[in-house]
Amino acid sequence: MLKEAAAGERRVSATPETVKKFIGLGATVAVESGAGATASIADQGYADAGAAVASRAEVLADADIVLGVQGPDPDQLPGLKQGAWIVAGLNPFGERARVDRYAALGAEALAMEFMPRITRAQSMDILSSQSNLAGYKAVLDAAAEYGRAFPMMMTAAGTVSAAKVFVMGVGVAGLQAIATARRLGAQVSATDVRAATKEQILSLGAKPIFVESVKGIEGEGSGGYATEMSDEYKAAQAELVSSHIARQDIVITTALIPGRPAPRLISDAQVASMKPGSVIVDLAVEAGGNVEGAVAGEVVERHGVKIVGHKNVASRLAADSSALFARNLFNFLSAFWDKEAQRPVLDDEIGNAIRLTQGGKVVHERLLG
Ligand code: NAI
Repeated sequence: MLKEAAAGERRVSATPETVKKFIGLGATVAVESGAGATASIADQGYADAGAAVASRAEVLADADIVLGVQGPDPDQLPGLKQGAWIVAGLNPFGERARVDRYAALGAEALAMEFMPRITRAQSMDILSSQSNLAGYKAVLDAAAEYGRAFPMMMTAAGTVSAAKVFVMGVGVAGLQAIATARRLGAQVSATDVRAATKEQILSLGAKPIFVESVKGIEGEGSGGYATEMSDEYKAAQAELVSSHIARQDIVITTALIPGRPAPRLISDAQVASMKPGSVIVDLAVEAGGNVEGAVAGEVVERHGVKIVGHKNVASRLAADSSALFARNLFNFLSAFWDKEAQRPVLDDEIGNAIRLTQGGKVVHERLLG
């Protein structure tokens, strides 16, 4: 297991808990010295769990499987064995050139974010585990920037009114944002293009805000993900959202469409319609942003409204996000563990979905052609 090299990455891909479990399977585990520091895990914790704590070159020298949160820099893989697996969130479209380099190194690169969304792979799904924590943290980030309270409070000096929170995009992150804002005492509403989310919004005690006038729109494509919407739908959505947003104190946007830039949900004019002191958190900022004017890695102010654009929000809760990420990796590798081979052997459904390189070539159909 390697120390993460990317700027701002605080997570780590194995914890003492998963090290113990891998050893229980019969594996030997080596951890790069200092790898867990940003996630509050000391080298000693890994050593106590049975791992060898060593330099990067020593860790790589014998490794059949290299674990990471993000893909390692191909220039920083000295002595990597031919055929070794690299298992991480590899950002295959964003880091396309790296995929070629992994192939050239003779590695078998497995992209965890391509894990199919099927029931048996739920416990291996890094997108879900990390989005869940990001949705929670987005609400806390909003609360920290907001100059008022979330819950209604009746005090001797008068009443403080509850914050109005609007969540746009009700996938894994959005659901957790709704639940968190409710727990803090806010009045919460939410919207999505997938009709199925309406029930989920209601069951969390929030108010659904949905386009009803445009017929024939289901909003759901393959694998339960959203599809790009028609121009008619977009216009109706913009109108509905405009009148609603002007009355909100906090807006959290989480909308993503796989393989495409994030949909633009809030225009500069809509930002300007909000009260001064309102806060918008754009969780899609790294995918192009849902909010006009959002800047990745910054908190900016437009028309008196703060727009929060933190990158890698899950990494802001590094201890918990690492624990879940590490379990996703263990659940994946252990599910396919072959006792005789003393290593995992993948089946075709999952292997073909996540394998990017093999035998010196890029093999994934979404990266070819
Ligand atoms: P995501 O991160 O791709 O997108 C976030 C949300 O934004 C989605 O709910 C999407 O419908 C919404 N969205 C897209 N365009 C929008 C627009 N123009 N306006 C408003 N909202 C918009 O989605 P996520 O969180 O990955 O979840 C997608 C689905 O997959 C959910 O139904 C979830 O329950 C399901 N899922 C299934 C899993 C499994 O079976 N293994 C694991 C995780 C999620």
